[in-house]
Amino acid sequence: MTREATTRDATGDTATGSAPAGAAPADSAGTGSAQAERNGLAAPPPEAAVELELAGVSKVYQTRRGVVEALKDVDLSIQRGEFISLVGRSGCGKTTLLRILSGLLPPSSGSVLAGGQSIWRGANRDDEALKRFGLVFQEANLFPWFTVAENIALPLKLRGVGKAARRARAAELCQQVGLQGFEGAYPRELSGGMRQRAAIARALSYNPSILLMDEPFGALDALTRDKMNLELQSIHAAAGATVVFVTHSITEAVFLADRVVLLTPRPGRIRSVTPVPLPRPRSLQAQSSAQFQAIVRDLRIQLDEES
Ligand SMILES: Nc1ncnc2c1ncn2[C@@H]1O[C@H](COP(=O)(O)OP(=O)(O)O)[C@@H](O)[C@H]1O
Ligand SMILES: [Mg+2]
Repeated sequence: MTREATTRDATGDTATGSAPAGAAPADSAGTGSAQAERNGLAAPPPEAAVELELAGVSKVYQTRRGVVEALKDVDLSIQRGEFISLVGRSGCGKTTLLRILSGLLPPSSGSVLAGGQSIWRGANRDDEALKRFGLVFQEANLFPWFTVAENIALPLKLRGVGKAARRARAAELCQQVGLQGFEGAYPRELSGGMRQRAAIARALSYNPSILLMDEPFGALDALTRDKMNLELQSIHAAAGATVVFVTHSITEAVFLADRVVLLTPRPGRIRSVTPVPLPRPRSLQAQSSAQFQAIVRDLRIQLDEES
């Protein structure tokens, strides 16, 4: 899961060297510990690198037509800074899993840990833990009566950040997601891709360490989607955030991920976890490499076996 030391900033420039400021080590399982030892520091315990953990998670929905076993015995450990793509057929429990990870939905059984802490204390959610999460859904869900900058800075307003600081942060984020010049525009004046950029900027506004995204580019045309994938890759590298990204598209999943988690339906379980050891940053051309295509093919075969 070692990410390359080469990172791209949001402007697309390539920078080689140490991880950007604020980035969490993505390699603490390996070179991070070695480095700490060289510096005379005690090596961090391996579990320190785990950002999110699901253990024995099951989810049962009670409906009028009976019981739906949406997830069963899901175990998943996600490293800090890792990019996880979650794929599977419609109805296999991807959204349920993401909502459980984010604390929006309690599991029926099992535990959900963020930074080693349970996000539930009995039936009560730990709201401190939730501050680490940024969420992006398929619909941008911007407020139509707020400008782009106001929408992006809304989470900061809710956290009591002052007006000048909010404006500065919104401008910075607009720059980062390619919306510079649109700070004062209203959502209706934006394309679908631009609205999703604004939703991503809003989710990044308070520097979440974990970004959870549920088919954020599902409604976009193929070319815009390619562009958004490249930008998300840059944002991930620059922010150092841990990302869990749900998608229907196997190509998109492989392009973005360090590991692809494939869910299988009824009940939703993890069928496989596939590492994607391709170097970063990845260009769109990387998709035509033999290694990329072999991974995509393998995942497609697994999905076909389900039907
Ligand atoms: N609120 C709910 N109440 C009852 N059943 C639900 C609810 N949400 C999802 N389900 C069911 O749980 C299963 C998984 O759904 P979901 O997590 O939305 O899957 P996906 O995102 O992979 O399409 C489906 O069978 C769906 O019908
Ligand atoms: Mg879904």
